[in-house]
Amino acid sequence: MISFENFFSTTRESPLAEHHVALRAALVDHYESDEHGRSREWDAALAGMPTTEVTQYKLDEGRISLTQPSSLELDIELFTSQLKAFMPWRKGPWQILGVPIDTEWRSDWKWDRLQPHITPVTGRNVLDIGTGNGYFLYRMLGSGAELAVGVDPTRLFLYQFQLIQNLLPPNNAHLLPLRGEHLPAFNSFDTVFSLGVLYHRRSPVDHIGELLSFARDGGEIVLETLIAPGDENTILVPENRYAKMSNIWFLPSADALENLLRRVGLENVRTVDVNITSPKEQKTTDWMEFQSLADFLDPDDHSLTVEGYPAPRRAIVVGNKPG
Ligand SMILES: C[S@@+](CC[C@H](N)C(=O)[O-])C[C@H]1O[C@@H](n2cnc3c(N)ncnc32)[C@H](O)[C@@H]1O
Repeated sequence: MISFENFFSTTRESPLAEHHVALRAALVDHYESDEHGRSREWDAALAGMPTTEVTQYKLDEGRISLTQPSSLELDIELFTSQLKAFMPWRKGPWQILGVPIDTEWRSDWKWDRLQPHITPVTGRNVLDIGTGNGYFLYRMLGSGAELAVGVDPTRLFLYQFQLIQNLLPPNNAHLLPLRGEHLPAFNSFDTVFSLGVLYHRRSPVDHIGELLSFARDGGEIVLETLIAPGDENTILVPENRYAKMSNIWFLPSADALENLLRRVGLENVRTVDVNITSPKEQKTTDWMEFQSLADFLDPDDHSLTVEGYPAPRRAIVVGNKPG
């Protein structure tokens, strides 16, 4: 079982401290009392990993690279197989002690699309709902964030994050295995990110309301989601699967999404980027061997999914909590 005491001690003097009791209760309910079928296997794999603190991580063309200290003698073949125990690796790319991890997603491309349009995270406390394995948390810290807290319920991603944390000196990136709806109204984060989560929620209005409740007055909300082409009256609700995914509920047009964000209470709402996802950004690799975007598109017409819906396109919308 992974410990979150570092998070609680780091934030004991912060505005998050008044929510520690609620967070501890949520972790008991949704993590400790809810053992994943593969937890023991992953616990054992994690215990067998090297735990040396490397001096730094650095960015190498979008790849987060953890350098190997000269004191560490590593059997690269063994270490590669240890990292592969935590497949599929979806978000990255990474280079961990000399081993390149070619992830399903070029998450750096998403970061590059959004970073020029947001208030610089330097010195800010940021929250990332549905953070995945923490790739974006390190990008936020690397861009100067004071504190980067992520939540994500997928247990495998917590293990990927933890094995990376075990190789780094203490830092201000924290991942809690919770859903956005498990969190209290913090009313304190300077920036709240929700990247690739809205369409997984049955109630998008509730999700947007939660994002507002996490931000301080005047704080920034950065929302990235799948959208559908169309005007302010267009919202696509897939009849069943969308791009072979069964958990997609709601794809508004960019204009409909802006309307919705304003209705829920955001100010200064603006769409800063629209992008059609390319099979170069999301693909099958040696580290994620399942099907990926190329398999989800109509083989004769890449502008459509296999179900005949418009192919995945994503918008980044930015706004503020009033204040
Ligand atoms: C498509 S991935 C996006 C990951 C990352 N934010 C990105 O943009 O690449 C969706 C993530 O949201 C997580 N997720 C799904 N439902 C969630 C919820 N209710 N609250 C928080 N995270 C959720 C999943 O575990 C998954 O890691």
